[in-house]
Amino acid sequence: HRQPTSLDTFTEEEQMLRESVRRFAVDVVGPKVREMDENEMMDPSIIKGLFEQGLMGIETSAEHSGAECSFTSAIIAIEELAKIDPSVSVLCDVHNTLVNTVVRKYGTKEQQDKYLPKLSESWLGSFCLSEAASGSDAFALQTRAKKEGSHWILNGSKMWITNSYEAEFFLVFANIDPSKGYKGITCFIVEKDMGVQVAKKEQKLGIRASSTCTLSFDDVKVPEENVLGGEGNGYKIAIEILNEGRIGIAAQMLGLAQGAFDKAVPYTFERKQFGQPIGTFQSMQHQMAKAAIEIEAARLLTYNAARRKEEGLSFTREAAMAKYYASVVAQNVSGQAIEWCGGIGFTRETGIEKYWRDSKIGAIYEGTSNIQLQTIAKFIQKDYSS
Ligand code: CAA
Ligand code: FAD
Repeated sequence: HRQPTSLDTFTEEEQMLRESVRRFAVDVVGPKVREMDENEMMDPSIIKGLFEQGLMGIETSAEHSGAECSFTSAIIAIEELAKIDPSVSVLCDVHNTLVNTVVRKYGTKEQQDKYLPKLSESWLGSFCLSEAASGSDAFALQTRAKKEGSHWILNGSKMWITNSYEAEFFLVFANIDPSKGYKGITCFIVEKDMGVQVAKKEQKLGIRASSTCTLSFDDVKVPEENVLGGEGNGYKIAIEILNEGRIGIAAQMLGLAQGAFDKAVPYTFERKQFGQPIGTFQSMQHQMAKAAIEIEAARLLTYNAARRKEEGLSFTREAAMAKYYASVVAQNVSGQAIEWCGGIGFTRETGIEKYWRDSKIGAIYEGTSNIQLQTIAKFIQKDYSS
């Protein structure tokens, strides 16, 4: 509310969406944030509310029960939710920018007709790529699929899977022919009832209401029509979707930084020391000014990457930059926000310390910061080496 955006390129529809997500985040999510963090559990009513608000099929066509909005709208929703709770934000982010997008972009008409309405209305989705021994080196995954008649039999396990505790729908990457290396990786649509086992739910530093589980697949029988995007195309699907998804994580980190700033700054003008509001000391003002610059820069990087993607321009380098930088900013600003509030900022009472705990994940998931730097460096090498 305090922060006007410097980008006036949002459409009326996008601005209305921002307002409605903000209201939902403040009124519905806000009162539950602390309890969900302490219980390490997403309140089911929040997931239901996201579906009812039309926020779980943001880019999906109306024909498939979606809201038929722009990619930037999804980014706006993720940002607004993160201002209040980065856990709710990542739930919505994974479901929209990873899961729905794969089905919309690579699914057959039958797969889209069957699954997109469910994913818009009530089925939560998760994206299952990482494993215990393959995180950054994602294409070294060990989950296998073997053809038997008209089915594929999946065996293996996945680790760190967001949303998987509550999900009904799993996009699972498995190798069907390891002799081809990563060119054997194939994406499968797996329904919970086909036999997905949640083996372990992680206890985490931050985004504690967002579920993160290990999954096991023990002779899970998947019909052949559930191969998504063709045999051997899984690695391309995974990384192409992650290039987009990284803009979503940038938006999550941007919202987080702004949320911490919005919460801490008013306090500095109320709290008095040495007979004056602490926010009027020049050193405090300069810290706040620098944080505002960082947030603005993260915002510009994030929305620039989003618009480039929407315009059909190259965006991989810009997405990596946005994710990397927004993660740094989120950590810096939320850390400073604690300091601006002094001792009270260090307690659970204000909720500011939670932003700092939640910020740490930005440098880890959807490609660590080193992976983003490597992605950017590859472009530099291509552009500058002969
Ligand atoms: N965009 C498009 N294609 C890319 C690419 C990119 N950014 N990076 C690599 N590729 C392609 C290459 O072109 C190559 O394909 P071809 O053989 O068809 O030309 C293929 O991938 C292999 O390339 P490399 O040998 O250079 O790549 P690698 O094996 O060293 O690593 C990678 C590739 C696994 C994609 C790695 O760079 C990476 O991004 N690791 C991080 C994995 C990740 O982001 N996991 C996220 C899991 S989901 C998640 O985390 C969700 C959540 O928390 C909320
Ligand atoms: P590693 O790959 O072992 O990395 C450890 C360190 O080594 C990092 O600092 C890394 O940057 C560095 N490193 C590794 N390789 C290189 C290199 N080549 N050059 C320089 N440095 C390198 N995955 C999913 O598939 N779906 C999900 O929904 C999902 N959700 C997640 C939610 C949470 C809360 C967490 C923690 C993880 C989630 N992940 C998910 C997994 C996430 O994408 C991986 O944790 C991440 O890609 C890093 O892999 P890793 O944990 O194995 O770390």
